[in-house]
Amino acid sequence: MMRSDLLPSLMLLLLRATRGQFPRECTTLETLRSAECCPAHPTGRPGDRCGDTLGRGTCQPLLVDMLPHGPPFSLDAQDERALWPVQSFFNRSCVCAPQYWGARCDLCKWGRTGPACLDRAQPLTRRNMLALTSEERSRVVAAIDLSKRAIHPDIVIATQRRESILGPDGQTPQFEDVTVYNLFVWTHYYSVMPTYVGNGTTVGGVDFSHEGPAFLTWHRFHLLQLERDIQTMLGDPNFALPFWDFTSGQGCDLCMDDLFGAQHPSDREALSPLSVFSRWRVVCEDVASYNSLGTICNNTEGGPIRRNPGGNVGRPMVMNLPEPDDVRQCLSTERFDTPPFYSTSDDSFRNALEGYAEPNGHYNSSVRTLHNLAHLYLNGTASQTHISPNDPLFVLLHTFTDAIFDEWLRIHNPNTSEFPAEDAPIGHNQAFYMVPFWPPVRNVDMFVTAPENLGYKYEVIWPGTPPFIFGIAWIGSLRSPLHTSLQRLMSQICTVVMTDTNHNTNISF
Ligand SMILES: *[C@@H]1O[C@H](CO)[C@@H](O)[C@H](O)[C@H]1NC(C)=O
Ligand SMILES: *[C@@H]1O[C@H](CO)[C@@H](O)[C@H](O)[C@H]1NC(C)=O
Ligand SMILES: *[C@@H]1O[C@H](CO)[C@@H](O)[C@H](O)[C@H]1NC(C)=O
Ligand SMILES: *[C@@H]1O[C@H](CO)[C@@H](O)[C@H](O)[C@H]1NC(C)=O
Ligand SMILES: *[C@@H]1O[C@H](CO)[C@@H](O)[C@H](O)[C@H]1NC(C)=O
Ligand SMILES: *[C@@H]1O[C@H](CO)[C@@H](O)[C@H](O)[C@H]1NC(C)=O
Repeated sequence: MMRSDLLPSLMLLLLRATRGQFPRECTTLETLRSAECCPAHPTGRPGDRCGDTLGRGTCQPLLVDMLPHGPPFSLDAQDERALWPVQSFFNRSCVCAPQYWGARCDLCKWGRTGPACLDRAQPLTRRNMLALTSEERSRVVAAIDLSKRAIHPDIVIATQRRESILGPDGQTPQFEDVTVYNLFVWTHYYSVMPTYVGNGTTVGGVDFSHEGPAFLTWHRFHLLQLERDIQTMLGDPNFALPFWDFTSGQGCDLCMDDLFGAQHPSDREALSPLSVFSRWRVVCEDVASYNSLGTICNNTEGGPIRRNPGGNVGRPMVMNLPEPDDVRQCLSTERFDTPPFYSTSDDSFRNALEGYAEPNGHYNSSVRTLHNLAHLYLNGTASQTHISPNDPLFVLLHTFTDAIFDEWLRIHNPNTSEFPAEDAPIGHNQAFYMVPFWPPVRNVDMFVTAPENLGYKYEVIWPGTPPFIFGIAWIGSLRSPLHTSLQRLMSQICTVVMTDTNHNTNISF
């Protein structure tokens, strides 16, 4: 099943990748009972924890954010995700020196490279999928497709909630292998699942990754994790996720067989059999059984991806994608987020980009725009929160959303204090460790500009740039390699122009 030339890189992955829930060696009965997840660095001396014998990190108590969260959630004592990860899983973990990262401090922090992780890496460039050459496109599609099949060599997922995690006999931890892509879907599901209160009953109204300020920071880390996992899987540290400009005015322009799948000729809600993604099967769809049994989604796959772009005739408002002016308007919203830091926030950049307010930030309960609208437009798997990442277009929809977030950070240069420290919904305060990523990472760690701090940048031509640049963008859309390189060159020039003019013109570029 696995190509043999991939084996060396998968061995490497065995040593290096560590993000998600949880490293395999932290899921033994003893480790779970000790509440300490401090694995040894692969080249550390006997007894090593966190690379401490190499000076990379130390095993320390985890200090969690105790500031109060806001309403409506009040089932903290019954939900294993409250005070993540201390309340239900681990209260000690590795704390790495600033240049290192990973469950064992075995990786370089984002944007760092070299044997001691002290060198600054060139930021990776996340580009428009349509600006890639045909070879680059096939490589992206093949990499994402492989990630659906490649078992994550390091991370395993829980298949039961905490109260049943040791199995019926109390001695058998309930974790299992998961593929790289299914882990990406599982983490999202885990962050949105309702609270199980026992006796076949679940209570909703809780969401650790949507409808609050953490929406942007959570999904940013989610993508960073997938990108690193794919880099490690391929043995290629330069692999970058591309984005889908869902404001191109061309509908689902990535819905083609050599990209993310055209429509099936006779079943409007299915993918064309010529697309590799028509063979994908979704995970996390058995919500009714998880909710009544108190179980969790696992790596067992079910039905195919459903998608009917623009096909929701019962809801005309979501039959068209957002427009460039919507992006321009949300970028000019001054405040990152506003009380109650929820899907009802008014004048909030986050709520406008997430899509529960008008693009200019004005709250209007009947509006769906930007990110939400792009999801709803796809009318299928990608439109249902708990399973949406099963459609690989999710990845590119979210890189574009993240690009808008990064552009907003660059323009507005916010103080950290603009991210609420308290009273946001559970999971959404700035110092909260995002559920369920491992090693623990806080919302505020992702509230920084990507090129300077996270090792990647976007190549986007933002609305409002001079018309001649748009001309080049259009030429680029003809997709010959020459035009593509011309577009790349022009967008670099354009970035410089935007940076220079932005100081005195605020957001009008
Ligand atoms: C961490 O968890 C262990 C095991 O449940 C417990 O014995 C210990 O007291 C906890 N430590 C702290 C600081 O909460
Ligand atoms: C559990 O649910 C059953 C059926 O709905 C009910 O009869 C029983 O009283 C419940 N038990 C508890 C402890 O709530
Ligand atoms: C995995 O999920 C499937 C489908 O919901 C379920 O039938 C199966 O029992 C689960 N497996 C484990 C190990 O929990
Ligand atoms: C897709 O559109 C149809 C027709 O309006 C609607 O009934 C269905 O609920 C939509 N499905 C999703 C998942 O949005
Ligand atoms: C809210 O949005 C709807 C749909 O676009 C519109 O008809 C309505 O006038 C808006 N309400 C306000 C108060 O702006
Ligand atoms: C950020 O905000 C805090 C609290 O309002 C303030 O004390 C601090 O000086 C601000 N920092 C900068 C760089 O503006």
